[in-house]
This record gives sequence, C-alpha cells and structure tokens, in this order.
Amino acid sequence: MALRSSRELVSRLAGRLSRPAGTAVALALVASVLVAAASTAPAETVAAPISVIIDTDPGTDDAMAILLALASPELDVKAFTVVPGNVTADQALDNTLRLVSLAGRCDIPVAGGAQRPLAQKLITAEFVHGENGLGDIELPASDCEADARFAPDLIIEMIHAMPGRITLVPVGPLTNIALALHKDPTIVPLVKEVVVMGGSITEGNVTAVAEANIYNDPEAAQAVFHAGWKVTMVGLDVTHKTNFGAPHLERLAATRGTLNDFATEVMQFLIDLSAQFGADGTPMHDPLAVGVAIDSSFVRTRHMRVEVETKGEFTRGQTVGNRYNMVERNEIEGDRLKMTGIDRVEPNAWVAVEVDADRFLSFFLERMAGL
Ligand code: BDR
Ligand code: CA
Repeated sequence: MALRSSRELVSRLAGRLSRPAGTAVALALVASVLVAAASTAPAETVAAPISVIIDTDPGTDDAMAILLALASPELDVKAFTVVPGNVTADQALDNTLRLVSLAGRCDIPVAGGAQRPLAQKLITAEFVHGENGLGDIELPASDCEADARFAPDLIIEMIHAMPGRITLVPVGPLTNIALALHKDPTIVPLVKEVVVMGGSITEGNVTAVAEANIYNDPEAAQAVFHAGWKVTMVGLDVTHKTNFGAPHLERLAATRGTLNDFATEVMQFLIDLSAQFGADGTPMHDPLAVGVAIDSSFVRTRHMRVEVETKGEFTRGQTVGNRYNMVERNEIEGDRLKMTGIDRVEPNAWVAVEVDADRFLSFFLERMAGL
C-alpha cells in the first residue's frame, strides 16, 4: 500500500472505524504502525524545497535563470526582486512581470527596488541584452501585478518570516541586497545562504578585471561580501566555462511550448551576438547561479577572503580573492617598513573555481524540456 503521509493513513483507517471514535483509534493505530515501520524500514526522506528570493535585472540570461528556477521542484521561489543593471529599473520590472505571467505564476510576488546603484550612475547593457533586455523578443503584456512593497523591504520581511530558511540568489548588481542589509543588519544570521552571480578572480567582462554585476555597484558588493553571512560567489571563473552552443540550441529547440520557444529565441539571440565577436556559444551566467542554489556540487569552491575594489583607476569593481587568506605584516622601523611576519585574514566567501559544465548544461536542458 503506497501512502503519501501519516495523515493519509489516519484518514484511511478512520474511514474503516465507526465515528466519532474512529479518528482517535486510528491515530493510536498509526502511532504503533509508524513506530514499527521506523524500526524495520529505512525512513523515506523527501527534501523540502529550498526557499529562494531571486534578485534579478532581466536581462537575457536572467530570463533563462528565472525559467530554470520555475522549472525546478527543488526550489520554492518566494519572490522575484528587481534591480536595475542590464536595463533600467522600470524595464527590468516589466520584463520580470511578463516572464512570470508567461509562466502562469502570478502567485509569486515581483517587487521593484532600487532605481540606481548606491554611489555611481546606472550603467545599462542593451548592447548585450537587446533594446528591451530580452533579446528584442516581445512577450505579451503581463497579467501579473507588481507587489507594492519596496524590494529591500520585502527581502527583510521574508527573511524574518522564515528565519534560517531563505537563500538569496542575486543575479544582478547587489544594490537591493545592500539596501536591505543597511536597513536591517539583523537579517544576516537569519539568512541561510547568499548565492551571488558576480565577480571573478581571474578575468573581467567589463574591464580587464571587473565583472558586470560587481562593476555596476561595487560599494553594494563590498557590503554584501562583508556582511558575515555565507556567500557563494559564482563568477566568470566558472560561468565562462558553461558554454551554450549550437548543439545545445538544437536540443532546446526540440522542446516545444510557449516558454520553450521563447527560451530558444533568447539563446539564439545570444549565440548570434557571441558569433559577432568570434565566440562559438554563450555563457550561462545567471542560470548557473540558480543551478548552484539547487545543487552545490555543480561547482567546486574555495573558501577565501574577497575584497571588492572600490577605488582603483583600472581595477574598480574587481573582486580580489585572497587564495591563501594571508597578508604580510609590515611594521615601522626607522624610516622604513619592515616585514615582521604573516597575518591570517578571515575568509568571507566560497568562490567557485571549477564547474562540471557538461552536467550543468544537460541539467538545464532537461529542466527546459519539462517546462
Ligand atoms: C552578469 O551581467 C549581466 O549582463 C548578466 O545578466 C549576468 O548577471 C554577467 O557578468
Ligand atoms: Ca543578471
């Protein structure tokens, strides 16, 4: 007899017994059955879905990340909070609402947040994401309405409502997360984890060393990396290895449906764009961060101290990873500094340094097939 829960067992047994005593007797019987079962059979554990808030700036690859999250039963998406980055705040909010509507998920709150970065002008990237941020693919107007709450407030509220259970997945500039942190630092120990798409310890995609999400709000990023919560950094070191090319597109195109057709068009747009710059395929930045929130074994991480450069003439926005968590100690001696030892620095981030790209891309395609 396959039973989904002890409640189902109670109701079946109660149905066979006379009421009103039926339920009480059934409960007693169930208790003894469960005790016996516990001693004879291995417990069947079904992991509860991971509650996530996805902070996003759609954005072509953001759109793919959103679809991946919605297609993944391991995740319970509590909210989408919207940040400007790839496009303006208004455009990003409109895009998120259209996507959520297309997926038939108006039940998930979508809240707008910051209008600009903390300390610099907004930099948008329609050049990369299309004029509308979705590869110039027009989605139908949304049936969903924006949540009235300010995104950082909604983040704070949900974290307090579910202490220890929320994983934040920011896949845009870190402005909303930093604002939430600044307004209510007590959220830090209540957050399960922060999986950031951003940064790099090897290369940049805006400058030689800076990645776009960090470059677009370095002050916010520095605050998020130093908050004291668990940060996993899914940066270009790994996302650049998740190359989605023609063979993947062929598999995606074979999966039909409104969402699938949209995904195929977006990925075609990105592949064509990459081809203009001589690249064969396109990286899956934001989807990989969602993938890591689902299954951390897609990447191998190293625990290190990450500082975000906020001043350098050539390095603003760089995530500087201290691979050995050590710095030289220098002390004044006369008119010079003399090295007197080595100090340890506390690691603050789990930096993804390797990725099982093939497994992740297959996972992404399987999930898209199930949309
Ligand atoms: C990141 O920047 C944006 O263009 C993408 O959406 C992604 O979040 C990659 O550097
Ligand atoms: Ca993004």
